[in-house]
Amino acid sequence: MLPAYVPNPVAALLGGGTPVDLGKNYSDGNRIFGDGKTYRGLFIGILAGIITGLILIWLSGRFPPASLPEHTLLSVILLATGALLGDLVKSFFKRRFNKERGTKWPVADQYDLVAGAFLLLLIGDPAWLFATMTLPVFLIILIITPVLHRATNIIGYLFKVKEVPW
Ligand code: CTP
Ligand code: MG
Repeated sequence: MLPAYVPNPVAALLGGGTPVDLGKNYSDGNRIFGDGKTYRGLFIGILAGIITGLILIWLSGRFPPASLPEHTLLSVILLATGALLGDLVKSFFKRRFNKERGTKWPVADQYDLVAGAFLLLLIGDPAWLFATMTLPVFLIILIITPVLHRATNIIGYLFKVKEVPW
């Protein structure tokens, strides 16, 4: 899951500039995505996730894992892209529910990346998804995702990268 976990914090660290929605509003008068979703965050975040995956592929070649599933270039691209597309889609619905940028939206804020990554894998490489995501693996992902999310956001808040600790 590292290629899916890395893009969000990297976007928070290095994102900014032109928002994906170019500042435009939706028909309900709220922003389409908001200022928290930028092109730079999207591209650098996805790139960082893909580089993470390439490092994992290189590592598994040097130190073959006993049981961990092997990544491919495709699985890595789908995980990284899906994570930030999930985040983007979540922000779209957040704005439709009149939630300002940066406000808390429990469950959605934590699992958007998992939903996005799994959905893209389902479309782009279902064989990899079903071979890899056994029930125990899936349960572990469900448990560690909110823990990692909270931990990285607290660290980001302490280092003043994020304005709020969630
Ligand atoms: N970020 C970005 N581009 C993205 C995603 C994130 O630039 N595609 C940066 C923004 O600076 C954002 C920060 O990462 O403020 C934290 O991301 P997130 O918590 O997802 O955004 P929020 O600002 O909380 O906005 P939202 O309410 O829409 O989730
Ligand atoms: Mg947020």
